[in-house]
Amino acid sequence: MPAPNIAQIAYQTIQQGKTLAGLAHKGVTTKLMELMVPAAMPNIQPVSKEVLNELRNSISALEKRDWLEAEQGVYPKSQLFNSPWLEWASRYPLIWLDLPSTWGRRISKRTRDIPKNIDKKNYPDYYLQNFHHQTDGYLSDHSAELYDLQVEILFNGTADSMRRRVIAPLQRGLKRFNKRSTGSLRVLDIATGTGNTIKQIKSAIPDIELIGLDLSEAYLREANRSLNNNNKLLVQLIKGNAEKLPFADGSIQGVTCVYLFHELPQKARQNVLKECWRVIEEGGILILADSIQLSDSPKFKPVLENFQKVFHEPYYRDYLNDDIEKRLKDAGFQAITAESHFMTRVWKATKPIAKSS
Ligand SMILES: C[S@@+](CC[C@H](N)C(=O)[O-])C[C@H]1O[C@@H](n2cnc3c(N)ncnc32)[C@H](O)[C@@H]1O
Repeated sequence: MPAPNIAQIAYQTIQQGKTLAGLAHKGVTTKLMELMVPAAMPNIQPVSKEVLNELRNSISALEKRDWLEAEQGVYPKSQLFNSPWLEWASRYPLIWLDLPSTWGRRISKRTRDIPKNIDKKNYPDYYLQNFHHQTDGYLSDHSAELYDLQVEILFNGTADSMRRRVIAPLQRGLKRFNKRSTGSLRVLDIATGTGNTIKQIKSAIPDIELIGLDLSEAYLREANRSLNNNNKLLVQLIKGNAEKLPFADGSIQGVTCVYLFHELPQKARQNVLKECWRVIEEGGILILADSIQLSDSPKFKPVLENFQKVFHEPYYRDYLNDDIEKRLKDAGFQAITAESHFMTRVWKATKPIAKSS
């Protein structure tokens, strides 16, 4: 194996720094919670040394893959270094200021503490909750401002590396359309949130038409700030429900969907897949990324079970045992493959070309 070069060492050092920062933040805030609001402490199970070792190995495999695919030109290496440090530094104090209200909701088990100005009839009932005990749920600028940093901390700095795992299968899937110009191809990112996956796809496949859809206007505003701040191709951001996509049948060549399914009830999961199948052109692909599950990663069982005890994730227990491959098949997808990368499982599924009669 060739010795790592300086850029690779820099990348590894940054990632290790992020991991340590994430662990330190969680360690300190947990201690503080224990001291100040013991009633808010979740009843989690201990994680053995063996499992911790497995987690470390899994992060290290993810980093290697992240670097390798950059070397192979799947995406520019600059992606690995463009964390918004200044923004994170300016938002970090807000995470601390937000802690007391998060603890308050935990203690009183308030999980539907949504801003008063929200017109509830515009959202599915399952959505109107404080996922991860998030202040305002997904429904305020304050929540959108904190989200990226919170996810970085949660995943110890690996969130972007895990999201990047959708790019290679997306590129492979789009090859089917390589007789067309890249600009004529449309990729839709469902539940785009603050737009991190789109940002990565945009830098890897710059000429493609990109559309992001999410139910949260506030998150889309945040996405717009970071995606459409230069003269590059405009990313279209649409407020909508993934269960009822506002696109014509067969009008999209690739759909990505990252970290949505564990926050949906079963019926909604199937509705989303049905809609993906409808809007994807024959031969097109769906790349789905979400939490690993018990069937593919039984060794991480205690970690996965603890996650739902620490955070308000009302559909996660059900998701952990759900058969996503069957759901994809039921929706009509074929050629289904799946891979796990640390805490994320990535499924690739194709909409088959109908045989002409
Ligand atoms: C955990 S976040 C993931 C965001 C983003 N994909 C990422 O990688 O960070 C879940 C996102 O799904 C959105 N969402 C939840 N239910 C939705 C639905 N039915 N239709 C569209 N968006 C939905 C939320 O507003 C939120 O932005």
